[in-house]
Amino acid sequence: MYLLSAVVACYAALLYTRWRRLKMYWSQRGVPSHPPIPLLGNIHLLQKYNATILLKRAHSLYKSPYVGIWLFCKPALIVNCPQAAHRILIKDAANFKQRFVRSPANDAVGSKNIFTLQEPYWSMLRRKLSSLFTSTKIKNLYGLIKCKTNDLVLRINNEMSAKNQVNLKQLFSDYTTDIIGAVTLGAEGQATLTGESILRKFTLILLKFDLLRKLTWIVLFFDANIIDNYLWFLKAKAFPNSTIAFFRKIYRSVLNSKGGYEADITNPHSLLDTLRKLKQDQVLKNIEISEDMIIAQLIIFLQAGFDTTANALTFCMYELAFDQTIQDKLFKEVSEGRPVTGDDYLHTNDICNLSYLDSVINETLRKYSQLGWIDRMAARSYQVNENLTIPAGTPVLINSIGMRYDPLVYPEPDKFIPERFLTDDGLVKKSFGFLPFGAGPRNCIGQRFAMLNLRHAIASVILKYRLQPLPDSDPPSESHIARQGLFFTPEKQLYVQFLPRQ
Ligand code: HEM
Repeated sequence: MYLLSAVVACYAALLYTRWRRLKMYWSQRGVPSHPPIPLLGNIHLLQKYNATILLKRAHSLYKSPYVGIWLFCKPALIVNCPQAAHRILIKDAANFKQRFVRSPANDAVGSKNIFTLQEPYWSMLRRKLSSLFTSTKIKNLYGLIKCKTNDLVLRINNEMSAKNQVNLKQLFSDYTTDIIGAVTLGAEGQATLTGESILRKFTLILLKFDLLRKLTWIVLFFDANIIDNYLWFLKAKAFPNSTIAFFRKIYRSVLNSKGGYEADITNPHSLLDTLRKLKQDQVLKNIEISEDMIIAQLIIFLQAGFDTTANALTFCMYELAFDQTIQDKLFKEVSEGRPVTGDDYLHTNDICNLSYLDSVINETLRKYSQLGWIDRMAARSYQVNENLTIPAGTPVLINSIGMRYDPLVYPEPDKFIPERFLTDDGLVKKSFGFLPFGAGPRNCIGQRFAMLNLRHAIASVILKYRLQPLPDSDPPSESHIARQGLFFTPEKQLYVQFLPRQ
């Protein structure tokens, strides 16, 4: 009995000493930190607050270039300093090619996609998939975007006639599902016009986060080792089996309609074509282009592309509805940019030169970017500054949302002021803190395409309609952001009215 008590006491003392050491981890290194709780670290805060909002607070509360936190039992560094972010993401990118987020190896689709893929496979795949978004390929998307923005204008007309209001998130998710669906699968959808398509059914499923999926994503983003080491029996996956099975059916039907894996592909236009061509040419050493591998890329492009762009369009239109002066300026610039032929549709070269339109987009992405942080993991130990060195394997969260709300760079950060991107004092540019698409070799692969898509969608709508809020709707504010979860998404549905311009 005495022996047992002694063993228990020793074990408790050992755990206590470890816990004390862990708790002191950041203070011993002179880094301010948020007090952790045993086992969960700071993760318990996600029960109450959206991760993005927490990061925003970590910037304004501590006013320190670095803040220490604990992701479960793992110390992680929040970087609030734009110069350090620039060093980590760009100058010293070779040491930070890996994300901390990952999926267990037995999750084929979750672990093989380009977002979570580890080195050396990620670099090989990224090089090949980047060919999808070259300048020429993006210019070739002109026809697709033109056709879909026409549908968008028609759909708004139909919705206004039927309901006298439009649900922004629904409208733009239908639109981006068609566009991203065409770029990934090379298949045409009619969701923009009708609100329905087989792929739209799938993108709706992608957004469903029940409690289990929410918890799984929190663990994947903030310490997937827990699944490998302790919770392997749960067989947790980034995407539930039923979701993958549903997509597999769509995939196989598209693949068959395109002649399968063997069909001749001379000039790949979609992600599916690009991957089929890689499979045929067998150019990727040590990466088998299996069906799961292809499905993994298609799903992550859809997930990363459709909701981010739809949210940006939703928030942008909602802000515009509440500010007629910004709308007037935008309308003036866009209508003056129209071709002299009288065509209502701007050419890609012209639309890329509209500085106010870009400022409106940048201000939307500043105020409402989906992912509030950019995660990396140090491959080798890294000297952050003369007093702080982090060991290999330390997760680093670049606080991109915090930096975008820094009042010293963006005065009155809660206000929507596109003009701040037009001033030529260079403050915004020089601050390095504007990272809506991330930065460095692992930045958003779809950035140029996303910007083009946003420009065309906003310009097409603003040329045809004046937006106005519904009589009792709340003005844009933080209260519209989902309180829980990981991403910066609207809490409730946002509606506006579109009035045809004369
Ligand atoms: C407004 C729209 C979008 C925003 C704000 C956005 C933002 C981001 C951010 C912040 C990252 C992480 C970058 C980093 O770690 O440095 C990312 C990565 C990524 N995005 Fe986007 N994105 C958008 C649209 C798109 C689109 C349209 C696609 C594809 C069609 C796409 C595909 C991806 C992929 C595949 C990655 C992972 C890249 C890698 O790890 O190599 N995104 N995006």
